Amino acid sequence: MIRSFFKAKARFPIFSVSDLEIMRTAMRNNERDGITGYLLRDNNTYLNVVEGPTAAVEAMLRRVAKDSRAFDFQIFSLMPTQERQYPAWCMGYHEHAESQVKACPINTFLATPAAQSVGPVLEAMQMLGLRQISNDRRVTQRTASS
Ligand SMILES: Cc1cc2nc3c(=O)[nH]c(=O)nc-3n(C[C@H](O)[C@H](O)[C@H](O)COP(=O)(O)O)c2cc1C
Repeated sequence: MIRSFFKAKARFPIFSVSDLEIMRTAMRNNERDGITGYLLRDNNTYLNVVEGPTAAVEAMLRRVAKDSRAFDFQIFSLMPTQERQYPAWCMGYHEHAESQVKACPINTFLATPAAQSVGPVLEAMQMLGLRQISNDRRVTQRTASS
C-alpha cells in the first residue's frame, strides 16, 4: 500500500461544477479501487492525500496528471505505508476563516510549498479530513433514518 501527497492548480473557480464532477468520479472510482484520502480545495489549488493499493494509486495519479481541469501537477511524497490514516475518501473546501489564519500549516504550505512542511501539512489535512468524514457520516445517517 502507498500514500501519496500531491498538489495541482485548479483551472475552474472555487465551488464550480467541475469540482462536483471530480468528486462524483473520485467517490465512484476510489470505492472500487480501495483508495481513501482527502481532497482539499483552496481558492485556486487542490491539495490531495490518497492511500491504497500501489497499482491503483499510481494509475489514479496518472489520470489526474492528464486531467485538463487541473495543471501544475506536483507530487510531494509517495511512501509505502502499512496503515490507512483515512477510513474513507472525502473532499473539502478550505474555509475562508481558516485561510486567514497565517499560522495554519496548510496556508504556509500553499504560500511556499517546502519539503520540510510536508509533515505538518499532512497532519493538518488529516484532522480536517477526518472531521469532514465524520460530518458526512452524520448526514448520511440522518438521511437514512428520516
Ligand atoms: C485534483 C483532482 C483530484 C482527483 N482525484 C481523483 C481521485 O481521487 N480518484 C479518481 O478516480 N479520479 C480523481 N480525479 C479525476 C481524474 O483526473 C479522472 O478524471 C478520473 O479518474 C477518470 O475516471 P473515469 O475514467 O472513470 O471517468 C481527480 C481530478 C483532479 C483534478
